[in-house]
Amino acid sequence: MTNQSGRTDFADENIVTVFGGTGFLGRRIVSGLLDKAGDVRAVSRHPHKNKLDNASGERPTQRIAADILDPSSIAAAVGGSRAVVNAVSLYVERGEQTFERVHVEAAADLATASRDAGVERFIQISGIGSDPKSRSNYIRARGRGEEVVKAAFPGAVIVRPAVMAGPDDAFITTIARLVRLLPIYPLFGNGGTRLQPVYVEDVAEAVSRLASGQNSTDASIFECAGPRIYSYRELVREIATQLKVRIRLVPMPFAAWSILATAAEFLPAVSLTRNQVDLMRRDNVAANDLPGLEELGIQSRSIEEVVRMIERET
Ligand SMILES: NC(=O)c1ccc[n+]([C@@H]2O[C@H](COP(=O)([O-])OP(=O)(O)OC[C@H]3O[C@@H](n4cnc5c(N)ncnc54)[C@H](OP(=O)(O)O)[C@@H]3O)[C@@H](O)[C@H]2O)c1
Repeated sequence: MTNQSGRTDFADENIVTVFGGTGFLGRRIVSGLLDKAGDVRAVSRHPHKNKLDNASGERPTQRIAADILDPSSIAAAVGGSRAVVNAVSLYVERGEQTFERVHVEAAADLATASRDAGVERFIQISGIGSDPKSRSNYIRARGRGEEVVKAAFPGAVIVRPAVMAGPDDAFITTIARLVRLLPIYPLFGNGGTRLQPVYVEDVAEAVSRLASGQNSTDASIFECAGPRIYSYRELVREIATQLKVRIRLVPMPFAAWSILATAAEFLPAVSLTRNQVDLMRRDNVAANDLPGLEELGIQSRSIEEVVRMIERET
């Protein structure tokens, strides 16, 4: 295990380690942390894959290669950390990378290694709708992941984002592309599923505040969602209106989407997955009785604003 400068020792005890620190959410958590106190360690299997923004430019990020499926590399990566964030994703099962292995077993291993290393704060990124009793393998693994993390690391904080939007996202960007491309837009079912999309930077700011101890509540679960609830149909219309595109929406049964997703998962660049279809079968909105962005002092940005940003950057 080596860092950017080739060092292998980590004497600094004020490090926040972000597993999945090069991902869509993780790299923004890293940027947010770099603007706060302390050093940041971004961990992933390919640590140099994505550019990490460092607005302050004052502190370098340690980029560490480690696999969450390998307990010895986990232990080395968390050593010397004050806080650890698990922002590792798995959207399609391949070989030994199953939802159970990554979202349950490896999450528990990371939480255990963090506890054994004397880490003060552990933050598990999960998702709104996670449910240990769900019939969907993906949603059930996310729910069980929360349970095993809390058992392994008492005091762990669970952050459940709604579907996240931002430049290079897989959701709004895809809708915007399809709205431009297709004369007829197929909806998930009748398009009635309710969603509360959230700007990815707002979630990243929430996580970096929690990881750096800037949290005045002692809540252990946060649901981070945007300012407005849309049906999927309304959301597609809203995006089309903003892009000044006329679109005809047509219902398409979930069974047909599941067949399409099963086929799409065999393609090298997966654009539709069965877990996305499963997630679209039920409403994905924040619970009224759980804290979220507001309780962390963050004013969530509107999706209209995010669509404008996506437009500028694509
Ligand atoms: N995107 C959304 O809209 C959304 C909504 C709700 C919840 N979430 C949750 O938010 C979290 C982050 O999602 P994301 O969309 O940011 O994911 P992402 O863009 O796919 O990034 C995943 C990160 O995890 C790393 N990673 C994957 N497998 C790993 C392994 N075996 N060992 C170490 N690192 C590994 C990846 O880097 P390497 O591939 O180089 O290892 C990458 O840095 C996930 O828990 C996801 O379920 C996402």
